[in-house]
Amino acid sequence: MAEIVSILSGKGGVGKSTIVSALGYSLAAEGKRTLIAELDLGLRGLDLMLSLSDRIVFDLGDLLCGRCTLSDALVCSPYTSRLFLIPAPSSPLSELDAGQLSALLFELSPHFDFILLDMPAGLYLSPALTAALSDTALIVATPDAVSVRSAGKVRAMLEERDFFSHRLLINRFSRSPFKKSGFAHMDQVIDMVGSQLMGIFPKDEKGILFLQNGSEPMEGSAFLTVARAVARRLMGIYIPLLIH
Ligand SMILES: Nc1ncnc2c1ncn2[C@@H]1O[C@H](COP(=O)(O)OP(=O)(O)OP(=O)(O)O)[C@@H](O)[C@H]1O
Ligand SMILES: [Mg+2]
Repeated sequence: MAEIVSILSGKGGVGKSTIVSALGYSLAAEGKRTLIAELDLGLRGLDLMLSLSDRIVFDLGDLLCGRCTLSDALVCSPYTSRLFLIPAPSSPLSELDAGQLSALLFELSPHFDFILLDMPAGLYLSPALTAALSDTALIVATPDAVSVRSAGKVRAMLEERDFFSHRLLINRFSRSPFKKSGFAHMDQVIDMVGSQLMGIFPKDEKGILFLQNGSEPMEGSAFLTVARAVARRLMGIYIPLLIH
């Protein structure tokens, strides 16, 4: 059965979809059959990042309503045969029902090693869905006060639902702005969120260009190097934490 990993945040725009895409490529490169399910209603974007937009016919909404079969809705990456996407419904008015999603994941689970759920930002839907559906939650925050506080709120909402299997990913880290961020040390960020740190993604505009252009993964970029390490940690392999 697949390990189901949700990627969520309080504040929007912190890099969840970017990280999900890089983790998807990284798990696939490690030989793991990986499915990314995009749950951001009406805000589809992963098809562009993963270079799949011209292959999309059906989406998660069609699948949940029974308008298509599982194999109709799964789209395979042009760059690796081990990475698949189910795109988000294009309508913001679609509804995501935890019971329906759980039944769908149960059906998909035997066919994959990992299923990554790209959650919408905010507190309205994601903490409840994450607690109901996933084995592990990765809370993404950028090193600024608003994002860190909202990540702490997400962590608290998960724990209110008796979900404790959460980890923290810091994104867009760079040493000099970090000093100006008001945090004296990374430990302060970790303490405020209250979740164990699993990776620090550098601010790396060049290293994520391949996702913005929907081109082939750019091996060796600092961003992808961290994604590879996080993917291996998800597989249970010990990889020391490094700051790039
Ligand atoms: N490590 C990084 N370095 C530089 N730019 C980054 C990094 N991570 C993400 N970005 C940029 O930040 C922007 C937001 O990223 P992304 O769409 O992945 O965030 P998100 O959390 O999924 O947003 P939303 O909450 O709207 O779903 C994008 O323009 C992306 O290219
Ligand atoms: Mg997103």
